Amino acid sequence: MLKLTDVHVHFGKLHILQGVSLEVATGESVALLGRNGVGKTTTLRAIMGLAVRGRGRVEFDGEDLAECPPHEVPRKGIGYVPQGRGIFPNLTVHENLCIGLPGKSDGEREEYVFGRFPRLKERLKQAGGTLSGGEQQMLAIARCLMMRPRLIILDEPTEGIAPILVSEIRREIHLINQSGISVLLVEQNVQTALKLCQRVFIMEKGAVVHSAPSHELKTHPEIVHRYLGLSL
Ligand SMILES: Nc1ncnc2c1ncn2[C@@H]1O[C@H](COP(=O)(O)OP(=O)(O)O)[C@@H](O)[C@H]1O
Ligand SMILES: [Mg+2]
Repeated sequence: MLKLTDVHVHFGKLHILQGVSLEVATGESVALLGRNGVGKTTTLRAIMGLAVRGRGRVEFDGEDLAECPPHEVPRKGIGYVPQGRGIFPNLTVHENLCIGLPGKSDGEREEYVFGRFPRLKERLKQAGGTLSGGEQQMLAIARCLMMRPRLIILDEPTEGIAPILVSEIRREIHLINQSGISVLLVEQNVQTALKLCQRVFIMEKGAVVHSAPSHELKTHPEIVHRYLGLSL
């Protein structure tokens, strides 16, 4: 479904992505792991067309996204929940939800999204910026779902969020995947990544250095230790 082949990104003289290759199959949930600063966020931004790509190829459902401008990428079916959430603090919850939609609101879809996130339904007229961190994260996810994505990309969705909402958000990610939407998740918590995702890609210094099914890493914790310096 999503395929990156040897993707490069430069910021000025800095060669930040040095040939990232990874793949997400239809219906699959995939985690992208790596220490701070290895280029996980830049990889996601490169997929969304938000970081200027050099050499390499990003394909979605067989289509090369090279010529696709950033605002068109979500319309192809890729939802993106950026690190730090990226909601509009001065718009209401409802306005935030509808921001990416072409034309009039989609009542059927709203009911579906409110069913998933009743907390948002109770706060429709509230400014996005007045929600708690966890609620803002839910809003960012809900906004993606409004666009009926086939793949959803999440960048550290539980970073800095109160523990009671963390498990709720993780459960939602699981249910989103269960409903048939593919997931690409950047996650600091390796246990969570292994629980939520079927496959894992590990990055070091601007490239993917290891990929494995999650069950393999669970039985070979030394691999996790080698690349991430963590004990499972
Ligand atoms: N806009 C930018 N300009 C210059 N350097 C950047 C920019 N964005 C990210 N970087 C650098 O690229 C590297 C990778 O960053 P990032 O993709 O955010 O890593 P991660 O998400 O894995 O922590 C870091 O060294 C970071 O400082
Ligand atoms: Mg990051």
